[in-house]
Amino acid sequence: MKTNFSVVPRLMKRDPRLAFNVGRALFSQQRALLFDRPRKDGVSNELYLMYFRLTPLCNLRCVMCGQRGDKGVLKGAFAAAEAKKIVPLEDYKKLVDQIKHKKPVVYLWGGEPFLYPDLFPLVDYMMESGLTVAVNTNGTLLEKHAAEIVKRKWHALFVSLDGFEETNDAIRGEGSYRKVVDGFAAINREKERQGSHYPYMGIVTTVGNRNYKDLRRLAEAADGFKLAWHIYNLGTYTNPEIVEEHRAFMRERLATEIECLPAYATGYNEGIDGQLLYDILKGIHGADFGHPIITVPALEPDKIEIYYGDLKTPVRKECSVPWGQANVDYDGDVHFCADYNDYVIGNIRETPFFEIYNGEKAREFRKALKERPDGLFPGCVRCYQAMLCGKRLPGF
Ligand SMILES: C[S@@+](CC[C@H](N)C(=O)[O-])C[C@H]1O[C@@H](n2cnc3c(N)ncnc32)[C@H](O)[C@@H]1O
Ligand code: SF4
Ligand code: SF4
Repeated sequence: MKTNFSVVPRLMKRDPRLAFNVGRALFSQQRALLFDRPRKDGVSNELYLMYFRLTPLCNLRCVMCGQRGDKGVLKGAFAAAEAKKIVPLEDYKKLVDQIKHKKPVVYLWGGEPFLYPDLFPLVDYMMESGLTVAVNTNGTLLEKHAAEIVKRKWHALFVSLDGFEETNDAIRGEGSYRKVVDGFAAINREKERQGSHYPYMGIVTTVGNRNYKDLRRLAEAADGFKLAWHIYNLGTYTNPEIVEEHRAFMRERLATEIECLPAYATGYNEGIDGQLLYDILKGIHGADFGHPIITVPALEPDKIEIYYGDLKTPVRKECSVPWGQANVDYDGDVHFCADYNDYVIGNIRETPFFEIYNGEKAREFRKALKERPDGLFPGCVRCYQAMLCGKRLPGF
């Protein structure tokens, strides 16, 4: 199985400016690896990808979600109380002014980003500032906003779907599949009506034991959605033993109490037949659905069993995220790790971004990560960001 980066050359043909911006981010990533990661002082000059977790609120409750799933805590009254802390538009604008010269790609997520009250003016401001903007959404509110999204020429939508109708709805909630399909249709109608090819849109599928046998049916259904990509994310999983190891490490080395990682000990990795999943993915990669298929992480056939069955064995090493990426949380806290955001390096409402990005806490985190075996903390072994930005281990 190969990682398929044919998205960029395809984009080059249709949209050279967007392809240039994505290419520039990839180039910055390489420079970070070559020049910044080796530095002993922990400083990084590159910034190519910014995550914005805009809100703790969501209208779904997907079973495996680290925030709102079976083990997530960002639910009910707690989520409602957290929502009072969301960063207002004006503060995000100030942040954009500070970072725009680096031209990072921005990735807006949540919770559900469409529940951030000023999503449209925020995306407008980011695009006017020359940033490339991607929005990761559960897709249930796309139909309602389709005309505006197309009119404002949003660059990219990453829409989550985890199976064909019954399978998806069992994971993501009753009726969610139909809403997403209606959303795709509405966007496509608007693109035609307004004569625009924006936004590019694709699916993100999180693979687990509830949906892996159904991936082909979803792939076939997606053939009609006019997508620009379909990403299969093999999923973020952990277990109680790794959680305790990570807890002890973070406490001792970085004086941090962890809360996020336990929410990924969901068990949805268990019982997956690695060979069968490999065959299903290989079949999907081999078929022509009219859009690139991307599996993250791409693994050798016999390693899928290890990915799901032996969570302690790394499949990627040397996470490079802190040397070019950051996540800004709904309350303004800044972290390197989008999903495991326990270690806070600062807050954008109190400190200018680049003082945070190369402040003492940031530099200490980078040094701690680099000195670790394989360049990973104990809890990093199945982190999605490491799967995207880590190095392939021999044989995997
Ligand atoms: C947390 S959601 C936030 C954005 C939006 N609510 C959505 O669902 O697309 C971001 C992405 O993480 C995925 N996700 C949820 N739980 C996951 C897990 N345990 N492992 C990997 N990805 C997961 C979701 O399916 C989605 O594509
Ligand atoms: S829609 Fe996104 S944020 Fe909401 S529960 Fe599902 S995965 Fe989590
Ligand atoms: S692999 Fe570890 S250090 Fe890298 S982003 Fe994930 S949790 Fe953070």
